[in-house]
Amino acid sequence: MCGIVGYIGNKKAKPILINGLLRLEYRGYDSAGIATIESNGIKNVKNKGRVAELENNSEINELEGTIGIGHTRWATHGKPSEINSHPHMDNKKTTAVVHNGIIENYIELREFLSKNGYEFLSETDTEVIPNLIHYYYEKTSKSGKLDFLKAIKETVNQLKGSFAIEVLNNDFKNEMFVLRKDSPMVIGKGIEENYISSDIPAILSFTKDFYLLNDFEFAVLGRDYIEFYDSNLEKFNKEIKNITWDMSSAEKGNYADFMLKEIFEQPKSIRETIGSRVVKNARIQIDELDISKEYLQNVDRIYIVACGTAMYAGMTAKKILEKYCRIQTEVDIASEFRYRNPLITDRTLCIYISQSGETADTIAALNLAKEHNAKTIAISNVIGSSIVREADYSLYTHAGPEIAVASTKAYTSQIVLLAILGIYFAEVLGVSYNELEELKEEILEVPTKIEEVLKKADQIKQFAKKIANEKDVFFIGRGIDYTVALEGALKLKEISYIHSEAYAAGELKHGPIALIENGITVIGVMTDNLLSSKTISNLQEVITRGAKTFIVTNQNLENVSFNEIINIPQISSYISPILSVVPLQLLAYYISKEKGLDVDKPRNLAKSVTVE
Ligand code: F6R
Repeated sequence: MCGIVGYIGNKKAKPILINGLLRLEYRGYDSAGIATIESNGIKNVKNKGRVAELENNSEINELEGTIGIGHTRWATHGKPSEINSHPHMDNKKTTAVVHNGIIENYIELREFLSKNGYEFLSETDTEVIPNLIHYYYEKTSKSGKLDFLKAIKETVNQLKGSFAIEVLNNDFKNEMFVLRKDSPMVIGKGIEENYISSDIPAILSFTKDFYLLNDFEFAVLGRDYIEFYDSNLEKFNKEIKNITWDMSSAEKGNYADFMLKEIFEQPKSIRETIGSRVVKNARIQIDELDISKEYLQNVDRIYIVACGTAMYAGMTAKKILEKYCRIQTEVDIASEFRYRNPLITDRTLCIYISQSGETADTIAALNLAKEHNAKTIAISNVIGSSIVREADYSLYTHAGPEIAVASTKAYTSQIVLLAILGIYFAEVLGVSYNELEELKEEILEVPTKIEEVLKKADQIKQFAKKIANEKDVFFIGRGIDYTVALEGALKLKEISYIHSEAYAAGELKHGPIALIENGITVIGVMTDNLLSSKTISNLQEVITRGAKTFIVTNQNLENVSFNEIINIPQISSYISPILSVVPLQLLAYYISKEKGLDVDKPRNLAKSVTVE
């Protein structure tokens, strides 16, 4: 989705803005632009296409200013084109704006502005913003920045939807204005320079000190100050947060792609997520939670709600919560949950999972639970993200920044954290099973076991070469292995564009087996001792019909002949996806590479989906 950067300081803004935009590329975009304040006013350069094209745009060489804003646009209203790219300016070229989010009532606002003599050049919803600011600013006495803030405030009062906006104005050559509602925005504090971004990694090379803006908070950035104003334009102080992510975690290092790096980082990200939460022979420690036995005994059901990969991670937690806590648990897609009138009461516990913490549907689903006075827990990877701020309790996966669009290390961190949460609830409820003690020990062994699986990368790469030109690939599994099959199919389709579907193995005979023909690839996942023999029977049915088989397993399969077997270490079936997904991540990665595709930035996809 769109990305925002901003800089004010004593250095030339242009290279800093370009650097930030390059780091935002992973979010997905189709045009880019920057505006700086020059001695003769605001200068705006933008184009369709990549940031590299912006860098080569001849007009950009004219930008000397030390204050500027930048944007990568992911087209929503109007096709990707220079005119639709941000920054947008008002008719009088006094104000430049970049905007993330969607203005739902932009048509009415356009009509209002048109009646007042304003004209529109682009098809975007954003262009109403600089013009409305101009309209309201003209109505003030224009006697200082408070008047300009009033104009921004009047403008945002008219806007329906979500927005993070960054504003420059010719009257304020040494200041930059920002505001957010339902769209991420952080402010980085430097020494005699300050930064803005929609995403921490974009400015992590410049500072680790951040302010996290809340909805309807305004900030005014000067070179050596940052002022915060509440929605009544009263000044207030904000706490600064130090981000512990290191810069190398947002860079590729020696890896060809972020996705490969992130796959190989999983032993580390799991270790960090476990942290001090799990210690042998001790109760689970989750300092962020304050949940009593009485509360849990009274919970009528748990909903786990998320989108995409995060939802598949959520699916793995149902078994542990139902078996040991005896609480009915349902896992839902956020975009469905929010509109299906789910049975939420004040005794319902809702858990929301979002790597970015900014997914619009997940946030809306969380707000729905709050309307019903249900307790909410957010699981996120991004400190201070929207979901974290909205929920009653927040738990972080400490996976470090995930840059590749296709999620890998965040997924495995989410699973481990959910398992820890499940054991924690069981302990709070006072249930004690030897199996849970063993599970804690197994959790501590996961990082070393992932290292074992990663050693299979070459074997997987060779198989990837053999199937890179397939049109359809099927994934099957049962129980927890079915959830991994879903994730494997998602990973493959999103980065290789191969049509891939996952089925619960037992469902094959109820329809999908009609698709099996000679030479088709079927990928089977088998880690559950109780269910593997059943999946083997299903695989034999597809082999009989000519399928090629790729198997991820920790079972002994001596008597069955498959085309390729990736053996993974033994592991409790509650957390087996953490290991069994790794070969599927690598397979998707190597197929995408084999096809010469852009692994980290697959077509049409965005890292953070901040619109519905
Ligand atoms: C797939 C993928 C997506 C995300 C989904 C939710 O690889 O990354 O399916 O999992 O868009 O994103 P978050 O977790 O940020 O809410």
